[in-house]
Amino acid sequence: MKSIIVSMIVAAGLMAAGSATAGAFNTGACKACHAVGKDVVGPDWKVVSEAYGDSKALAAVFKSGFKVEDRKVAAANAKWKAQAAVMTSQYTALIKGHEEEAAEALFAAVKAGKI
Ligand code: HEC
Repeated sequence: MKSIIVSMIVAAGLMAAGSATAGAFNTGACKACHAVGKDVVGPDWKVVSEAYGDSKALAAVFKSGFKVEDRKVAAANAKWKAQAAVMTSQYTALIKGHEEEAAEALFAAVKAGKI
């Protein structure tokens, strides 16, 4: 199990290499599933940013453990709720410990119009 988690983190790091950074957090790995202006594997980050309002509100949900019932997008949409586990593993591998930077990077990407 540990080696699976380690290889997932390594894979995410490889995906992030060479991608643009937004703020202090590299959103390269997020790009595999997210975009600004359309849904991909995960929801449109514009919709995500509108659901939270600002990066502080998103960072607070990240910091409190990113529980499915606290997730504004998943809570309002059964389709995304059904896929919450996909995002939970990304949260554990990439966001935990970098909650504020990750939230700021998401809002910066939305402002820039691309991840
Ligand atoms: C393997 C695909 C995948 C990757 C990679 C991924 N996400 Fe997601 N993300 C999803 C899916 C599926 C959902 C919908 C489920 C949910 O909302 O929890 C989602 C939802 C979200 C939400 C909305 C949560 C809510 O419901 O309110 C945020 C915020 C988010 N992702 C941020 C990120 C960030 C930041 C990264 C990069 C560090 C990232 N995601 C990488 C698949 C992914």
